[in-house]
Amino acid sequence: MSALKVGIAGLGTVAQGVVQTLQRNANLITGRAAGDIRVTAVASRSAKPDVDLHGARFSTDIMSLVGAADVDVVVELLGGEQPALDLCRAALAAGQHVVTANKALIAHHGVELHELATQNKVSIAYEAAVAGAIPVLGAIGRGLAGNQIEWLAGIINGTSNFILSAMAGEPSGSAKQKNSLSFAEALDQAQELGYAEADPTFDVEGIDAAHKLAILTSLAFGAALNFPAVFTEGISEVTVEDIEYAAQLGYVIKHLGIARQTANGIEARVHPALVPAKNLLAQVDGVMNAVMVGADGAGPTLYYGAGAGMQPTASAVVADLVDIALQQVRQPVAAAPMAYLGIEDIVTSYYLRVPVHDRSGVFARLTTALSELGISIEAAVQREHTRSAAKTPAGEAETVPIVLLTQDVTERTMQAALTQLQALPEVAGRIRCIRVEALEA
Ligand code: HSE
Repeated sequence: MSALKVGIAGLGTVAQGVVQTLQRNANLITGRAAGDIRVTAVASRSAKPDVDLHGARFSTDIMSLVGAADVDVVVELLGGEQPALDLCRAALAAGQHVVTANKALIAHHGVELHELATQNKVSIAYEAAVAGAIPVLGAIGRGLAGNQIEWLAGIINGTSNFILSAMAGEPSGSAKQKNSLSFAEALDQAQELGYAEADPTFDVEGIDAAHKLAILTSLAFGAALNFPAVFTEGISEVTVEDIEYAAQLGYVIKHLGIARQTANGIEARVHPALVPAKNLLAQVDGVMNAVMVGADGAGPTLYYGAGAGMQPTASAVVADLVDIALQQVRQPVAAAPMAYLGIEDIVTSYYLRVPVHDRSGVFARLTTALSELGISIEAAVQREHTRSAAKTPAGEAETVPIVLLTQDVTERTMQAALTQLQALPEVAGRIRCIRVEALEA
């Protein structure tokens, strides 16, 4: 049995987790990989003399891993674009396998890196880049290999889920008490837990989730990676008021990544959505991640777990190393450029919260206007006294929200309707619009 020799770039928490995991479960891993997996080299710009490298050589020169005789696989755990990209390019060109947890790198440069891997007859694997510990790429690429994937929907940014859960007053993670954190407090906690990105706008504006969805979409549908085609909207405009109205209507607001194969092209979109409270995804709280996959034979399957953190992410990196040892890495099959739908062509239903002047007949005026635009109402809530009720600047009439759920309609129609509704004299402020996802086949 020959050993697989691993060189790790980076010495942050995940890198330390990989070194620890390979030590802690050495015998188990050797059995599963049909040979030893040994960390022979670690390279990081800053030395950490307190970290036990279990005999691996250390260098502050990251590129020293490239082409090294004692490195079969370069594990890139630097994060960011450079020097991670140059390192991966050089390692693949030198005939070394690459394992990375870097979702931004794969989302932006995955096509090129896959081509380099193919040319050099080596593998590139990135299970840790999507949903941390959850082996969802393995599940789609291997476990569901006999299926046509029809759709997937996931909570794939723990920080956003933590913030939305906290705003909804749900218990967070292991804390068994109700909390009512503000947006900023929840973000601080996610940062302390090591979940948030270095730039947390990547989390709250949906970019991190879009990186992951681009990867999932590519693997699920055999489409070439296409990050720019992913529609991206974050959670920064979701309010506690919307969360409360959604609850009254039987929904929970989640930040979802959704991909769907349609007759006209692939849908790939990241945005807040109302999810039926009884759906399993609605029950995923705190920093946890979950991905539901709809497949033609298997039907819906659900994958749940920690989306980040030292040991969970290390778990996925080590799984990739075992796959490489067994020569079982799945590359996206026949990854081909495919048409993606623009957001204006998607069909879904919508939650609308319309602040109106509190006069008689205003509800009928609104629903008539929607009906004339071809939009049917599924449900409505009208409150006389809510936290948003307020005097207008003139002081003569109160504003109250009318909350509506529509039936399915194209986004194009809905956007045109919003422009028209917004101009009605009865409408007293900005209309809030959130997509509703039934999450059915
Ligand atoms: N910032 C990410 C999250 C970390 O919150 O899920 C894992 O990619």
